[in-house]
Amino acid sequence: MTPEELRGEIQTLVAQYHDAAFAASPFVAGETPVPVSGKVFDGHELALLVDASLDFWLTTGRFADAFEPRFAALMGAGAARLCNSGSSANLLAVASLTSITLGDEALAPGDEVITCASGFPTTVTPLYQHGLVPVYVDVDPVTLNLDPTQLEAAIGPRTRGVMVAHTLGNPFDLDAVRALCDRHGLWLVEDCCDAVGSTYRDAPVGSFGALATTSFYPAHHITMGEGGCVLVNQPRLEKVVESFRDWGRDCWCAPGAENTCGRRFGWQLGELPFGYDHKYIYSHLGYNLKLTDMQAAVGLAQLDKLPGFITTRKANWQRLHDGFADLDALDIVLPTPNSDPAWFGFPLLVSDAAGFERFDLVEHLEAAKIATRLVFGGNLLRQPAFAGREHRRIGALPNADAVAERGLWIGCYPGLSAPMIDYTIDVIREFVAAPVIAPRRDRRGR
Ligand SMILES: Cc1ncc(COP(=O)(O)O)c(C=O)c1O
Repeated sequence: MTPEELRGEIQTLVAQYHDAAFAASPFVAGETPVPVSGKVFDGHELALLVDASLDFWLTTGRFADAFEPRFAALMGAGAARLCNSGSSANLLAVASLTSITLGDEALAPGDEVITCASGFPTTVTPLYQHGLVPVYVDVDPVTLNLDPTQLEAAIGPRTRGVMVAHTLGNPFDLDAVRALCDRHGLWLVEDCCDAVGSTYRDAPVGSFGALATTSFYPAHHITMGEGGCVLVNQPRLEKVVESFRDWGRDCWCAPGAENTCGRRFGWQLGELPFGYDHKYIYSHLGYNLKLTDMQAAVGLAQLDKLPGFITTRKANWQRLHDGFADLDALDIVLPTPNSDPAWFGFPLLVSDAAGFERFDLVEHLEAAKIATRLVFGGNLLRQPAFAGREHRRIGALPNADAVAERGLWIGCYPGLSAPMIDYTIDVIREFVAAPVIAPRRDRRGR
């Protein structure tokens, strides 16, 4: 048999394998787990993954090349550059804004970047890692996004950017943030890791900042297992992002390619001799954050499903919302005005007057096999890793404390069926009607 015929034969078996190995089992309330998130896939993902492995190209290749322009177009972005995680994408975004190619516009150690006190750590950690100073504004507990009324107060003489996430898929107030950035000449980096498919005034998130980032970890809107992407909305940043991702090199050849610039042995840069191989000239202190083509292949199959995923996330959020709307004990997080979120999860705060605490609800739900998550780091400044690091903050951040103390989210991802959601609604409604206070065992410290 020829390699092509064998490939066909293997793919027939892969389809059979998928149907045999991943058949869905019926939902049994109280026994089947109701996860917060997970990968939703069919035989197509497996087929492309095997196709990529049979190529044995291994590094970034034809599947990544096919993914990037399609994803950029879907996100309304100028270009997309894949990397190996959402955290790497955030690291690359910040590193790229320190590029020497940006001259006076480059971020320098000691410059300040405005962010939100409540969120995921790796939206903020690249700032510390680059010697930048985060300026924390409080969170709006209704939307879980940065409080736009604090933005102007956050500006100082060294403020150079805003880097913040669209929390759990809910877009932040882009009118306010874009206006602030335009007024003060600030860089905007949108962390869209949880918000692929969300829109603000009908435009996709990820199209507003100079750079934006996404994650393809299994919990996210589409998955590659591990994976991430930097969306680039300024052409001058495309090569910069690539350079930081690919060892810091000056050369922009794709893996396996040579002499894309047409003068591989015709450059003189730095103190190097004329004609030094461009492949080995480094213009940035870079990383290697590329992903493999197997990951990109899975992502490519997922892209076909993305519109359906987005519709289902919105419908699941709405079903949960309608199931709880009359409960005073729960403060449901609501879409930012002018936005249409492709929700990552269903967030809420246990209200002050609920008669129970978040701890009690979480214990009850977990016992009923309904998974819960907290709103990531809660108030990041209360996290051990953030203690004692240079920062500024606007006020005492009481709402970030409220999110840390009373916030949680449950799932609304496309893998949840209507019976799973209705079971979740029933369990929570019964709990709110007759709360059970869970025993506390104090195990402070390590
Ligand atoms: C807002 C936000 N940013 C960044 C990340 C990091 O993505 P990754 O897990 O792919 O590193 C996450 C992860 O869930 C996230 O929620």
